[in-house]
Amino acid sequence: MERSLVLVKPDGVQRGLVGEVINRLERRGLRLVGAKFMQVSRRLAETHYAIHKGKPFYDGLIEYITSAPVMAMAWEGPQAVDAIRQTMGSTRPTEAAPGSIRHDFALEIGRNLTHASDTVENGVKEVALWFTLGELIEWRRAVDCWVFEK
Ligand code: RTP
Ligand code: MG
Repeated sequence: MERSLVLVKPDGVQRGLVGEVINRLERRGLRLVGAKFMQVSRRLAETHYAIHKGKPFYDGLIEYITSAPVMAMAWEGPQAVDAIRQTMGSTRPTEAAPGSIRHDFALEIGRNLTHASDTVENGVKEVALWFTLGELIEWRRAVDCWVFEK
């Protein structure tokens, strides 16, 4: 079962879209395994976005993600990484598919509401970076067999 880190970024929290994001992931059939509402430290932001260090948008990105609280979550499911990125839509909201979160609620790449892990490997790494083992809940839903084939 794949896992992905999902962040509702500061703009999503400020705009009251935490419930909307959770609702869409729940309706899709994904299973929540961890969640915390938190202020992101500069240190965590820099580790999380280390791959973007040196890019022109890096300083603004660190400023953005640390500017107000975020809702950090871990979600799991079959092909969770691709499924969640599809639900979020393309990074640039004006290129996001109609019906995706970024299409429906965002306009600018620097205010694109959410983060989701981009590969299975990064899903594992990012969930481990943002959550301790004790914060992740292993559980089953009665409905799992109607959503997950295996
Ligand atoms: P995310 O990591 O946030 O889920 O988004 P992503 O994979 O779709 O995009 P990524 O390339 O990892 O970029 C991370 C975040 O940096 C901001 N960004 N700004 N101004 C720009 O050209 C630019 N490019 C990226 C966005 O907030 C993006 O989500
Ligand atoms: Mg990314």
